[in-house]
Amino acid sequence: MKTDLLSIILAVGIASVLVKTFLASRSPLNRIPGPWYARFTDLPGAMASMSRQQVQYYHKLHQQYGPYVRVGPRNVFVSDIDSFRIIHKIGGNFLKADYYHYFGPTEAGEPPYGLFQMTDPKDHAQRRKLLGRGFTATSLRAEWEDMVRQKVVDAIVGMKTEAASKGVVDIRRWWMCMASDVVSKVMFGKSFDALKEGKDSQEDPWFELVQITNRSSFLAMQFPLLYNIMRYVPIINRASMFHAHEAMMSKGDAAVQNSKAAADGDNANIFAKVRQQTENDDSLTKLDIQVEAGSFMIAGTDTTSNTLTYLVWAVLSRPDLQSALEDEVSALGEGFTDSQLEKLPLLHAVIEETLRLYGAAPTPLPRIVPPGGARLGGYDIPAGTEVATQSFTMHRDPKIFDDPERYDVERWLPGGSCTISPAAKAAFTPFGAGSRVCIGQHLAYMELRFGAALFFRECRGAKLDASTTPESMEMRNLVLIEPKGKVCNIVL
Ligand code: HEM
Repeated sequence: MKTDLLSIILAVGIASVLVKTFLASRSPLNRIPGPWYARFTDLPGAMASMSRQQVQYYHKLHQQYGPYVRVGPRNVFVSDIDSFRIIHKIGGNFLKADYYHYFGPTEAGEPPYGLFQMTDPKDHAQRRKLLGRGFTATSLRAEWEDMVRQKVVDAIVGMKTEAASKGVVDIRRWWMCMASDVVSKVMFGKSFDALKEGKDSQEDPWFELVQITNRSSFLAMQFPLLYNIMRYVPIINRASMFHAHEAMMSKGDAAVQNSKAAADGDNANIFAKVRQQTENDDSLTKLDIQVEAGSFMIAGTDTTSNTLTYLVWAVLSRPDLQSALEDEVSALGEGFTDSQLEKLPLLHAVIEETLRLYGAAPTPLPRIVPPGGARLGGYDIPAGTEVATQSFTMHRDPKIFDDPERYDVERWLPGGSCTISPAAKAAFTPFGAGSRVCIGQHLAYMELRFGAALFFRECRGAKLDASTTPESMEMRNLVLIEPKGKVCNIVL
């Protein structure tokens, strides 16, 4: 009996290997270069992601095999600018892959989906039109500029106070508190007040929820069988990773309440303001608001704070650049505005160069090849294949950016020694591209501008602490990047 069962298992195993080998030998993707195992599995990519080396793994494959790399049986990576344009074209039909269903506050992979998670173009266009009104540069300046500025001021006061008492301060933690308070105010109508206590990710349940949700979603996406087994096994399923989604959704109640507030009231959130602009359009349900509020918190906290952390680190690592930037922002009068900051050439150059090398989401953006297939870079790619681009590689292409690994603000300065080319402008996509480009980019820029300007004005002469080294700041990434050492300590 035992022998029979073993024989059956063995036969099924051999048959599945044979079927896979047969299918692999006939795939039109075989013409695309890539490692031998990619014909059978994309597991090495998943493993690299789980060990927080996602973008580095795919970047190495690009360096070895070129701009088109087959990374799995039905997965291709592309870093060629012409194909990038085709894949991310506005109104194009390369839709987001189901991968995105996993990145939100709902139970991993399950609807209802927020803007970020949506794959259906009609649902997405409708939601984007509605929420997009609140995220234009003009609307953000009118509604939230004072609030953003005040949160940055509070973060810097917190940094100074902590540095005075401890001798050293982790700026990443303060930028996380700042970004969390900004996005929670916009989405919930009331800040989570992380800045009040300078709580870090270990202490604050909200930060922890975001981290746990990201990890559990990734596990569910890459290893659904394992995730589902764990989810239904008593004792294991009590672990916080299976309940972070519920906790996050329940936080969304405040967003629902404040969506009914008067648009100019103290507690009005973006939903209240959008309702006013659309003459009380009530098309967003209670659940939609909960999902969007949680989803924007996930998308808008670690992104801005990690970028700002890398910005300060990159500048403090270059004393000449630091004093030039300190001079530029110190020359501003009191009460300067975001539109004045936007015109400062060095500040602009520092932000763009930071986004090029250390933008927080340089990750693969997977899309599905539409019915009828596509011809990319001379390769015929069948419908249903997943094609992904990643700005990590595009931003480090030596054909597009001179000496790409070098942090060099000159490339963004008018008349700088290596001024940016049109190809580089097209490849520069820290916020993605096309109809799925980051809806929060103007808010992020406003936070980056106020954050950098006020920091280098108020903290002249700041230095990196000895514990902050190129090694501790090495990028780790699972969807978003973060420093390997988790902190960025400085002395003031
Ligand atoms: C430096 C900061 C940020 C970076 C580098 C960044 C990066 C990105 C990227 C690359 C995408 C495109 C994803 C894709 O196409 O697959 C994206 C989309 C998105 N981002 Fe951001 N982001 C930042 C800040 C923010 C902020 C502050 C918010 C909101 C408060 C936000 C909300 C979103 C949302 C909702 C989407 C989905 C848009 C859609 O599909 O229509 N992001 N972001």
